[in-house]
Amino acid sequence: MTWQVHRLAPALAEGAPDADTATWIRAMMAAFLGPRPGPEEMATIAASFAGQRLRGVYETADTSPVATLRSWDTAMTVPGGEVAADAISSIGVRATHRRRGLLRALLVDDLAEAVRAGTPVAALTSTQGSLYERFGFGLAAWTRSLTLDTRAARFRDAAPTGRLRMLDPSGFAPVAGPIQDRARRRHPGSMDRSAPSWHALITGGVYDSSPRSAVAWADATGRPAGYVVYGVAESWWGTGSATLAVHDLQATTPESYRELWRHLASLDLVGEVGWANASLDEPLPWLLTDHRAVSSGGPRDMLWLRVLDVPAALGARRYPVTDRIVLRVHDPDRHASGCWALDTTDQVTPAVTATTDTPDVEMDAAALGSLYLGGVDPRVLARAGRLSEHSPGAAGRLARLFAAPGVPWNGIRF
Ligand SMILES: CC(C)(COP(=O)(O)OP(=O)(O)OC[C@H]1O[C@@H](n2cnc3c(N)ncnc32)[C@H](O)[C@@H]1OP(=O)(O)O)[C@@H](O)C(=O)NCCC(=O)NCCS
Repeated sequence: MTWQVHRLAPALAEGAPDADTATWIRAMMAAFLGPRPGPEEMATIAASFAGQRLRGVYETADTSPVATLRSWDTAMTVPGGEVAADAISSIGVRATHRRRGLLRALLVDDLAEAVRAGTPVAALTSTQGSLYERFGFGLAAWTRSLTLDTRAARFRDAAPTGRLRMLDPSGFAPVAGPIQDRARRRHPGSMDRSAPSWHALITGGVYDSSPRSAVAWADATGRPAGYVVYGVAESWWGTGSATLAVHDLQATTPESYRELWRHLASLDLVGEVGWANASLDEPLPWLLTDHRAVSSGGPRDMLWLRVLDVPAALGARRYPVTDRIVLRVHDPDRHASGCWALDTTDQVTPAVTATTDTPDVEMDAAALGSLYLGGVDPRVLARAGRLSEHSPGAAGRLARLFAAPGVPWNGIRF
């Protein structure tokens, strides 16, 4: 059977997805073992794809795709700034068509388009740990889970401050959007959220229809500085003590962070609050008189990053020290291949140029992706044989150059 990659723009006609979008959604949901969406869910999913790119692999005799991929343009925080990124998701292959190169065909096509568009990096999250390195993606950000035992939690700072306000779904995004936009600057790897993704966050989308609550915290001047979205993961009916799940928590000030957690810890009928997608540097245990009220799991891999344009990607971030270092990068797909001089003498505008100079360090594109946000120490990669030093101390120089002011994290599930 012959097949071809086709691109389509998701489309709604009178509130329902058009035929191509509908077959694409069904194929993607089936590949992820998801539920068969009804008309209302189909409309919600299709609306959440507005402005995004859908790709499918189609066999000549079939109008339903046998493989899917979705991508969109996003802004990603990098140390000292942000970079345009190709966010990739929904890669799924029909169970009968695996291991025939369909994932490869879709991804290669998508990355080629991102390169043509001048997008410096691509990013994705993965269901499995060994899939994407072969395509030049390096693990760049992690997440971990936190569980707060609310009955044991005592806050060092006893008196609540500010004001909490419940947000209804229609008023949620206008309040939460500006907060997330400020909060995400602290974590390299964080992305902006599209309007439909706000809707999915507050409603639970198609995978989770249990009710969600959104609470914003405002300081004494009335300015909202943080929000949390949570829902019931396990009711109190059986045990007398419910478990809540945090779906997102963004705080722009230490005070808003503390008061949002105080709110979660103070809810009646609740014994535990879990957050599956916390950053590695959550201050929560330090707010409490007994850090054992918080337990954690992980870390787990979260964000995989692929550099497509070395000068644009390295030029988009800032570096804490001045140096000039030459990196040789190997890339089987050639996007990042070459010998590159990174010169940070001008800290505002780092210069990244192709060079014939002898390299100080050598690595593959995936290793460069791992280093880019500053979450991995190049000396560790050197010890693992993933990076070669050609001048003494080069990995240490690279570590000082790439050090980031914040811990890489991507708070958005995509
Ligand atoms: C994972 C999945 C997308 C792979 O699709 P596929 O079409 O079988 O992959 P391809 O045939 O294009 O394989 C591409 C490469 O990845 C490798 N690969 C594929 N699936 C793999 C797996 N599960 N684990 C490790 N390697 C895998 C192949 O061996 C091949 O390697 P090579 O090119 O170096 O020889 C598919 O099995 C699937 O839909 N799984 C369920 C949904 C899912 O988990 N999607 C991934 C979302 S991040």
